[in-house]
Amino acid sequence: MSTVGHVKRNTPATIAAMKGTRPIVSLTAYTTPIARLLDPHCDLLLVGDSLGMVLYGMETTVGVTMEMMIGHGQAVMRGAKHACVIVDMPFGSYQESKEQAFRNAARILKETGCDGVKLEGGEEMRETVSFLTSRGIPVFGHVGLMPQQVNTTGGYRSLGRSDSEADKIRRDAKAISEAGAFAMVIEGTIEPLAREITAAVAIPTVGIGASAACDGQILVSDDMLGLFNDFKPRFVKHFAELAPAISKAAASYAEEVKARTFPALEHTFQPKK
Ligand code: KIV
Repeated sequence: MSTVGHVKRNTPATIAAMKGTRPIVSLTAYTTPIARLLDPHCDLLLVGDSLGMVLYGMETTVGVTMEMMIGHGQAVMRGAKHACVIVDMPFGSYQESKEQAFRNAARILKETGCDGVKLEGGEEMRETVSFLTSRGIPVFGHVGLMPQQVNTTGGYRSLGRSDSEADKIRRDAKAISEAGAFAMVIEGTIEPLAREITAAVAIPTVGIGASAACDGQILVSDDMLGLFNDFKPRFVKHFAELAPAISKAAASYAEEVKARTFPALEHTFQPKK
């Protein structure tokens, strides 16, 4: 924990120490008001590059920029008082070299004040993760389905059914854990493999579409809040239905504006008597 304004915030070390205690609770957050609402309930808030698709309507996360991640990282830091805040490194900001990764990760830490960065990749990122962690940058790994690689891996589907796929994910998880990451996301991976990896690695695994066998869970908040009528993959549960609630509110507003029943007297400023 670190003390910020007398409130104890989780750190990457707090999260790492949770392995074998209780499941780690995490969600994505992209804005200050949502971070404020989620923060008391979450151990970790991720400013995920999923914001490209969720907030900006992009087809994939590939177009997300450093500026977008830093702006939203700053916004979430203003709303988070308790959770460990991790910011995703966007596609193209770390794959070129370990030096490029350090430069951009340091910029994210300095400009947002967040607790660490997340990057996707396994064996090919071992050296980079080790370079960052040995120079003061906490790293949250991400193996299994890697959305930034969707253009070469051929889409979003659960992984680990073939021996070669399972072997690759096993090797990736081992590499990231040994390189010094404090925890890792396992995305879109079949349950037996997620269970095996969770037992084998020293750091917590945080699953999304990777079963309850992981050390913790993460979901995209907008998915679990039911903000998308037309998108509900098998691994998502709606804990609220905000899309119909918002549509209903907008329809009522439109109706009242057209009928001139809003604004009413109590919403109207009058001259002083
Ligand atoms: O970008 C993101 O939101 C993520 C989570 C889904 C793990 O990487």
